[in-house]
Amino acid sequence: MRNGATAARIAVIPGDGIGAEVTPQAVKALRAVTAPGKRSMEFVEFDWGADKFLREGVTLPAGAVEMLRDEYDAILFGALGDPRVPSNQHAADILLGLRFKLDLYVNARPVELLHDRLTPLRDRTEKDIRLMVFRENTEGLYVGVGGFFKKGTADEIAVQEDVNSRKGVERIIRYAFEYARRNALKRVCMSDKSNAMTFAHGLWQRVFKEVRQEYPQIDSRHLYIDTLAMEIVRDPSQFDVIVTCNLFGDIISDLGAQLAGGLGLAPSGNIHPGRTSLFEPVHGSAPNIAGKGIANPLGAVLTSAMMVEFLGWKSEAAWLRTAVRAAIHENFVTPDLGGEKRTVEVGDWVANYAAKSFGSKLK
Ligand code: NAD
Ligand code: IPM
Ligand code: MN
Repeated sequence: MRNGATAARIAVIPGDGIGAEVTPQAVKALRAVTAPGKRSMEFVEFDWGADKFLREGVTLPAGAVEMLRDEYDAILFGALGDPRVPSNQHAADILLGLRFKLDLYVNARPVELLHDRLTPLRDRTEKDIRLMVFRENTEGLYVGVGGFFKKGTADEIAVQEDVNSRKGVERIIRYAFEYARRNALKRVCMSDKSNAMTFAHGLWQRVFKEVRQEYPQIDSRHLYIDTLAMEIVRDPSQFDVIVTCNLFGDIISDLGAQLAGGLGLAPSGNIHPGRTSLFEPVHGSAPNIAGKGIANPLGAVLTSAMMVEFLGWKSEAAWLRTAVRAAIHENFVTPDLGGEKRTVEVGDWVANYAAKSFGSKLK
């Protein structure tokens, strides 16, 4: 479908730990803003995760990639990670596997402060913290190229290669500039560590210098990643769009999430424009709170808003975001945000609020 269609098929992969607790809240919110005969959604759930891996030895089942690519419009994902799987093999196969095999080269991780009280930065307000991190999502240190030599001996050597292709670097940098242009954002910052990683990030430097020339109306700059980490805390208002490599994007997006209230609120999209894409909260499976019913579902709901926006359903996205904002303003929130509500209570509240916006549209 996509581009104006009115029915979407969504693959739901709740995964492990709190992934399985927050994802149903996002589905509930999506159900509240869709309906048969209007814009409608069909959800098909997949039980991929640690339990299945430990039970059957299966991570990403054979044929899964083609099935998702051909039969679904988008994937709503929770989190993977389980203390019983210390190798993290299932997460590597399923999550990184889908990012790579579906070629989801854009990892979009917005950082947006939804209420002044949620930032740990003194004197910062909503207007100061609103930026987008674009993380390259198919290359870099994540590709799994490397190996051991003399493993388990005193002379052991471990190698992990940082793989950067001209095509891969160019398409994510270009996407960042195009996003800025489309959204009338003035500033793009590319961040690398080219002063130390002269080969891999020398390529990022050369590509950035080339691509930025095509966007003279955009104020483009470069910061080394260590300086970016410092600057984003000192003054986050100086950033609109940040583009960086896979590993640095992972780190800077958690830092950004904390500036805007923490991991419980941070959404993300793993996107290949025009193809089946995967949407997940930035957080992991949080084994320290899993099973307690207190995980914040708002990051998952904001993730579902990113997903419907990707489908082109702008009003549904707005209703979901408005409902999340309202929960925060009413302080109807989980303990991580200073409240005392439980995951399901917050999920119900948000779905009911969103349903009212949907209902008033129908009148
Ligand atoms: P984590 O994101 O799971 O948790 C970090 C901290 O944030 C914990 O204190 C946790 O309680 C808190 N937190 C996270 N999400 C929250 C929410 N929705 N509500 C309230 N508090 C929340 O990171 P971790 O502890 O480093 O990793 C745990 C497991 O998750 C590991 O196996 C890791 O590999 C995996 N992981 C998976 C993903 C993913 O699937 N996308 C992302 C990150 C980590
Ligand atoms: C994320 C996670 C993953 C990553 C892990 C679970 C491999 O931290 O989505 O941010 O590093 O990409
Ligand atoms: Mn991460």
